[in-house]
Amino acid sequence: MRRTPTITTYSTRGGSGKTLISVNLAQWFAEVMGKKTVIIDADIEAPSIDKIFKTGKESRSSNKTWVHYLDNYFEKIDEAILPTSHDNLFMIISPPPEIGKRFLATKRSEWWSMALKRSIVAQKRLLGELGFDWIIFDNQSGLSMNSVNHMALADKSLLVLRPANYGVDATLEFLHEMVSILQTKIQSRRDYFAWNQVPKPQNEKEEELLEMFLGKWEQFFVDRGVRPTVRIPYVHSLAIELLNKEAGIFAHILEFYEHIDRIGKILLSSED
Ligand SMILES: Nc1ncnc2c1ncn2[C@@H]1O[C@H](COP(=O)(O)OP(=O)(O)O)[C@@H](O)[C@H]1O
Ligand SMILES: [Mg+2]
Repeated sequence: MRRTPTITTYSTRGGSGKTLISVNLAQWFAEVMGKKTVIIDADIEAPSIDKIFKTGKESRSSNKTWVHYLDNYFEKIDEAILPTSHDNLFMIISPPPEIGKRFLATKRSEWWSMALKRSIVAQKRLLGELGFDWIIFDNQSGLSMNSVNHMALADKSLLVLRPANYGVDATLEFLHEMVSILQTKIQSRRDYFAWNQVPKPQNEKEEELLEMFLGKWEQFFVDRGVRPTVRIPYVHSLAIELLNKEAGIFAHILEFYEHIDRIGKILLSSED
């Protein structure tokens, strides 16, 4: 069995908390577990990793991004790796969304196959010569050639889900298509999911309703081989802090970070 410690986080829609969970998980691997980790902004439609780690405009407008690497602007992935202010944590950013959107609208399937090949070369180099222990891809929401490529690279995937009927329904269809597309490419991926922004019930009736909703869908995903991890609440203090910043590392908010710790341990224990 191949062993490539690569995690791809994904969701049906934006706003689920994919980026928040990805960056905190990456920081957990890097600083709590001491593993050399790189987070790659694969959400070329709505990139945000550079803002979170505040690299400033120069780097986003540089040609040393993930998208430029895929498009062969430079040969080796080494040139795109940027440090962050966290020990052991590095990042590869995406360019401004106009560029990513243009790629999504204009590139044909041959280009995306070439991009997948380039990604595999990068993955091998990062985990080989460059000595990274973990790669985390923060994927684009929904189905696209781009998001499918980044799923194909993963040996572990984490679906981030908000508990709302329309959200879960859309995810069903999405999962179905994603799985059928990937079946031919992937043999050994392990799929997980996490609830995020779960409301806190105010009385017994609400608690029962929530439990029924989550329980029903958890069973549904389990039956399809997607394993549950955590139920992350909607955290008020985190949302208040976000009034001052984009997002970031929330290791000081236990109510949130204990779940990151749990996801991290689950992903580590499933290493082969
Ligand atoms: N559990 C949570 N509690 C409070 N705010 C959250 C929570 N999860 C996500 N958010 C906030 O919701 C917004 C969308 O999250 P983000 O990670 O950007 O989603 P995505 O990457 O899936 O589009 C961000 O401002 C994020 O920090
Ligand atoms: Mg995001």
